[in-house]
Amino acid sequence: MVDNFKDKAQTWDKGSTRVNGAKTIADAISKNIKLQPHMKLMDFGVGTGLLGFEILPLVEKILGIDISQKMLEQLAQKNSAEQYIEPKNIDIIKNPLKETFDGMISSMTLHHVEDLELFFQTIYKNINANGFIAIADLEAEDGTFHSENTGVFHFGFNQDALCKVVTNAGFKDVKIENINTINKPHRDFGVFLLTAKRA
Ligand SMILES: C[S@@+](CC[C@H](N)C(=O)[O-])C[C@H]1O[C@@H](n2cnc3c(N)ncnc32)[C@H](O)[C@@H]1O
Repeated sequence: MVDNFKDKAQTWDKGSTRVNGAKTIADAISKNIKLQPHMKLMDFGVGTGLLGFEILPLVEKILGIDISQKMLEQLAQKNSAEQYIEPKNIDIIKNPLKETFDGMISSMTLHHVEDLELFFQTIYKNINANGFIAIADLEAEDGTFHSENTGVFHFGFNQDALCKVVTNAGFKDVKIENINTINKPHRDFGVFLLTAKRA
């Protein structure tokens, strides 16, 4: 697995925009989804756990999936007996998990996934009946969000097209809303939250 985040991992949590952005995403998820103490969730592209550790106190367990060993090492350093996200270094699109979850959360990772159809078809099988997905990512942009676009397969997302892919994979009640704006010196970037349920 190519680790495009190996040089960014150590300083990832130093970015206040990232830290605050993850908090905003966590707030939006808890407003939209009834998180419950018995729930077992997957955080897809967990990274250093910026989103996962915000959601963890509200649920029973989170499995943190990531293809970057270096990001997971940073996550592991933040783990404790009281606050533990299980790190798992695997490409679940190439090697699907057999395990199922009450829901999947994800922040700023979908634009790194090349084949969206395959991703949503795969994830569908990992979600329990009536379980949810809650995915935050960039609204359509001009390719200038990242200073370098290695491993970036989508310059944000067209919301109608993305909803169609999610619906075609079998999810229902697909909803998208703008939840944040990231201000960079040259322009602003919208962030959306997509939520849906497994039929
Ligand atoms: C922009 S970072 C976001 C990390 C974290 N969710 C956050 O909000 O701080 C994207 C993360 O997704 C991971 N990633 C990229 N493609 C992936 C894939 N196919 N499967 C799992 N993780 C992936 C990267 O390694 C990286 O840790």
